[in-house]
Amino acid sequence: MTATKPTAEPFLPAQRSLRSLQTAAEKCEGCSLFENATQTVFGHGKVKAPIMLIGEQPGDQEDRAGLPFVGPAGRLLAKALDDADIDPESTYQTNAVKHFKFTRKGGKRRIHQKPNRTEVVACRPWLLAEIDVIHPQVIVCLGATAAQSLLGASFRVSAHRGEVLTLAAAAPATTADEGPAVVATVHPSAVLRDRSDRRDDAYQAFVDDLRSARSAQLRSAS
Ligand code: URA
Ligand code: SF4
Repeated sequence: MTATKPTAEPFLPAQRSLRSLQTAAEKCEGCSLFENATQTVFGHGKVKAPIMLIGEQPGDQEDRAGLPFVGPAGRLLAKALDDADIDPESTYQTNAVKHFKFTRKGGKRRIHQKPNRTEVVACRPWLLAEIDVIHPQVIVCLGATAAQSLLGASFRVSAHRGEVLTLAAAAPATTADEGPAVVATVHPSAVLRDRSDRRDDAYQAFVDDLRSARSAQLRSAS
């Protein structure tokens, strides 16, 4: 038997609305991550939300709740959005990978594991379909996993954070009709994990990147 590449593709519905995508994603077995997770954690927010935020994958609390960004990283994100003058109602929040990947420690505790490239690529059809139905003006990639899913495996957040890019390439946006602008920044968990005395700086830089996304959105709306 020939091994086929893991992909969510065959699980996507023919008729695509946010609801039909979400319903179909509940049954996705596009890669092995569905096996141990509680449920698919699909994106959350309104169709035509001007700003789409993409994280890495659901964490422990998101896996239980079935909603993205409800745990500690989500709380930091909510505060940063507020500080960047972004109304959470204007955002659609999702993840590059829709199932929680973890290992068990000491029997019970579930420890987050980073999804690998195969899993990110397998799950990408859901993400692209979400972009298609939400039609955001700006996409914010929170961390390398989201950024590399959309902008390619060689994309480096550290080299391009806060820049206004296009989806087609990690090239600076030139015209308004090239599709959504994309801004990459760090993952809120990285700010949370920063135990150094530079944590305030890390938080402020994160808020600055969100402000850059907000400005790009205002420009594309005008
Ligand atoms: N981290 C993410 O990347 N996404 C979530 O939904 C929660 C934590
Ligand atoms: Fe499907 Fe994505 Fe879950 Fe893999 S992680 S089973 S591709 S929804």
